[in-house]
Amino acid sequence: MSEVPAVSIQHLTRIFRLPTLRRQTVTAVQDVSFDIAAGQIYGLIGPNGSGKSTTMKVLLGLLRATEGKCSIFGRDSARVDSREDVGFLPENPYFYRHLTGRETLVFYGKLCGITGSALKDRIGELLALVDLEHAADRRLAGYSKGMLQRIGLAQAIIHRPRLVVLDEPTAGVDPGGSRKIRDLILALREQGITVILSSHLLEQVQEVCDRVGIIYKGKLVKEGALSELMSVEDQTEILLRNATPEVLKAVRALISSHPVTDLLTMGHPRTTLERLFLEVTDGSAVETREYVK
Ligand SMILES: Nc1ncnc2c1ncn2[C@@H]1O[C@H](COP(=O)(O)OP(=O)(O)O)[C@@H](O)[C@H]1O
Ligand SMILES: [Mg+2]
Repeated sequence: MSEVPAVSIQHLTRIFRLPTLRRQTVTAVQDVSFDIAAGQIYGLIGPNGSGKSTTMKVLLGLLRATEGKCSIFGRDSARVDSREDVGFLPENPYFYRHLTGRETLVFYGKLCGITGSALKDRIGELLALVDLEHAADRRLAGYSKGMLQRIGLAQAIIHRPRLVVLDEPTAGVDPGGSRKIRDLILALREQGITVILSSHLLEQVQEVCDRVGIIYKGKLVKEGALSELMSVEDQTEILLRNATPEVLKAVRALISSHPVTDLLTMGHPRTTLERLFLEVTDGSAVETREYVK
């Protein structure tokens, strides 16, 4: 594969030294390696405290790696220019709550050097994309969590980045709001934008991601294409078109004549991401529901 990956993380380790007890350290991320091909949606999943945010912050150059390195489109994350192509929605974004949605986007657009009619047009486009045209002139103080995340997403992509980093984009958002965010992430992929998102909500990751990495206690315990991770390895699916009863009978007869092969079902057995997750994390609890009353 000659194409430069959108993200490359190699042997990343990040150790925090606790300020009060200088000898005590926390290994937040340990020897984590993975690549993300351009145009993919990558999900980093794991329970709280497993190292998702730390991995993202090192990737963004907000934290230094203790060991290993990260690059974005071939440029080392430690270099400031690697960030030109990146949009970021942090875990707990802080916005000026007295500004309206539109004013917020004007503020971030100007920070990115966009002005005049180009900015006005871009903001119109983004407000339509994130479905906030109706609330554009309301203050953020009155926005729901889902609306705030959507304005945050619009802010993250205002400068047309090629990579978008979303840290728990749907945390605390109700199911309807989460669905909107999921659709937006899929819309980003349609525009060819690479997305890395972290989540502890497995169902959502399963719905949008092409690849996933399961991170647990700082280590990447499983990584791969969602379709591969979720197929059951010692079983085989045979898909037939226009099979006649005679053909099926012959297939069954052939299988039953073979001593170690069993016919289990004609459908395809797939595990769920949740079951896989529990298997590789010693049954560590994660939420699979977005919203519990
Ligand atoms: N600035 C910091 N100082 C000390 N420990 C930290 C710091 N940031 C994160 N950690 C620790 O590193 C581990 C991973 O945290 P984090 O990357 O935030 O996990 P996640 O995003 O998966 O919830 C946790 O044990 C956390 O307490
Ligand atoms: Mg986090």
